[in-house]
Amino acid sequence: MATITNTKVFLLLHLLIVVVGISLIQAKADDAKLRETKMSIYFQDNSSGGPNSTVVPVTGLAGKLWSFTEFGTVFVTDDPITEGPDPKSATVGRGQGIYVTTSLDGLNTHASFSIVFTNKDYKGSTIQILGNSNQFEAVREYAVVSGTGKFRYARGYATFETFSFDSSTSYSVIRCNITVCHY
Ligand SMILES: *[C@@H]1O[C@H](CO)[C@@H](O)[C@H](O)[C@H]1NC(C)=O
Ligand SMILES: *[C@@H]1O[C@H](CO)[C@@H](O)[C@H](O)[C@H]1NC(C)=O
Ligand SMILES: *[C@@H]1O[C@H](CO)[C@@H](O)[C@H](O)[C@H]1NC(C)=O
Repeated sequence: MATITNTKVFLLLHLLIVVVGISLIQAKADDAKLRETKMSIYFQDNSSGGPNSTVVPVTGLAGKLWSFTEFGTVFVTDDPITEGPDPKSATVGRGQGIYVTTSLDGLNTHASFSIVFTNKDYKGSTIQILGNSNQFEAVREYAVVSGTGKFRYARGYATFETFSFDSSTSYSVIRCNITVCHY
């Protein structure tokens, strides 16, 4: 009985070594194909509060004013993304997702959104952005945690900086620089 068990353990170990060996070879082959892509794109962000706003508070703490600086406020966003800062420049896609003010002092925001590409090169592909940053810093950095289509297995980072802001209309153009490694 003991011998049979030992044989089973030996076989299992052997199998494990073979499997680990194969996946190491696989990982090596995949690493060789990893590519880096960098891009600068521009989010057209309308937070006027009117019907054509592209970022809207949808819930928050009862009895509090739902705002960017109020802990617990949840925003949904669907910003057009363009190739240049001019809103009329070529469309790249949309920035769709949620922001939540997640620090009690109202400084930090948690972002989880997708860049949904609609332009020729990347149409149908997405990049997933996730993280937490101080929304009042000149440069906000988030992680790129994954992607789909041409960005499968993507990982990297994205910086956001306000390129222009019109306080009379609450319209901002935000430059987003993305560096991703993907296959
Ligand atoms: C922003 O939204 C407001 C309200 O919906 C709208 O009046 C305004 O034209 C929009 N601004 C731009 C630049 O699209
Ligand atoms: C919202 O956008 C639509 C389509 O561009 C436009 O017809 C409408 O006048 C805009 N509404 C406001 C309040 O700006
Ligand atoms: C973003 O990229 C532009 C060039 O496209 C560069 O001028 C700018 O400094 C970059 N911003 C950051 C925060 O790296």
